[in-house]
Amino acid sequence: MLQPFELSLAEMGELASIIPAADPEVKLQYRTIPDFDNKSRRSIIPVCEPALTGNELKYVQQAVETNWISSAGSFIRDFEERFAAACGTKYGIACANGTVAMHLAMATLGLEPGDEVIIPTFTMIATANAVTYCGAKPVLVDAEPAYWQMDLNQVEAKITPRTKAIVPVHIYGHPTDMDPLMELARRHGIVVIEDAAEAHGAEYKGRRTGGLGDAAGFSFYGNKIITTGEGGMVTTNNRDLARLAWNLRDHAFSHERHFWHKFVGFNYRMTNLQAAIGLAQVEQLDTFVAARRQHAHEYSRRLQDIPGIRTPAEAPWAKNVYWMYGVLVDEGEYGLNRDQLRKVLADNGIETRTFFIPMHCQPVYWQQYKGERYPVAEDLCRRGFYLPSASSLTIDEIEYITDVIRSACVQLR
Ligand SMILES: Cc1ncc(COP(=O)(O)O)c(C=O)c1O
Repeated sequence: MLQPFELSLAEMGELASIIPAADPEVKLQYRTIPDFDNKSRRSIIPVCEPALTGNELKYVQQAVETNWISSAGSFIRDFEERFAAACGTKYGIACANGTVAMHLAMATLGLEPGDEVIIPTFTMIATANAVTYCGAKPVLVDAEPAYWQMDLNQVEAKITPRTKAIVPVHIYGHPTDMDPLMELARRHGIVVIEDAAEAHGAEYKGRRTGGLGDAAGFSFYGNKIITTGEGGMVTTNNRDLARLAWNLRDHAFSHERHFWHKFVGFNYRMTNLQAAIGLAQVEQLDTFVAARRQHAHEYSRRLQDIPGIRTPAEAPWAKNVYWMYGVLVDEGEYGLNRDQLRKVLADNGIETRTFFIPMHCQPVYWQQYKGERYPVAEDLCRRGFYLPSASSLTIDEIEYITDVIRSACVQLR
């Protein structure tokens, strides 16, 4: 049977200053739930939750009433078209989740064993795993400290004759600086696949993420800006790529004969029920993005003068959609370290999440990257965490959360 990768005590020791403490238990508090019956009940402020505030129920009911609940049905195409339009791309290929969206894009572009794919080490593990599923090797670069995106200055040095693709990840909803990356990739004849799982509606120089490279993958997991519960989408402007991706998504059935297969395809299909929710969600994308940007503004306004709390920055060329509102804690200035502050927040009913643990620190990839160090990603992992970031968050909740952060350090002084 498959055995887990475990690190030795010495290896864990190397990581001791980087990997976060276990998640603190979030204590229930009395909280008003505005959308329900406006009563106070014991609850927590979750780090994220879906906002099913539009036509979700109506469209799901239509899917049920018309008996189209599997992966054929008109909501799939409607959702694909509407989401692709929201990204400014020609095509959208809906699939089962964001991880397989990334894998489908990579498989369609022909990634295979022996290929190398450059990715940021500071990402969620699905980016690296999608490359691994192709039998290709993820090659890592560090994050840059200003916006926490892939450090473009390190990419060119990592290009070899085996490099087939570069995968910028728009971390936490802030776009990567795509123009220099695309110029570099074009010069070397390398494809670019955006991992836009976290960046629905984000913009780079006025253009939406999802259409900035050769293809992109999005996630619609329950904590994403728009959700289908589980779900994902490949977006692209390339017609041939879209056609092949649609085909590979569905076992690569041939057009001339049904049970006739010229590729090893996948069952990465989305159901019509999920797409019904997705269509209702994408109708609200601009509203959700506006809410998140307003929440980020309110958070930053209240936090920026607290010594030792660094709020997220937005590049001049970026429209950040703040999938998650992340902050960095400087223990020397603030008085508590990140994990201590998380504990205070948890005691006050506020759920938070630590930043990603970089790929080179993961037990499963440890041997592959032994000896490689990426100091910016490690520092982000050591000091970063994100605050409740749902579109449905209220200004009162932001005030409460920021008051807890302010008083936690004042009490200590
Ligand atoms: C950057 C990134 N890529 C890929 C994924 C995978 O998406 P999913 O969970 O829908 O498979 C995620 C999920 O959170 C992500 O954050």
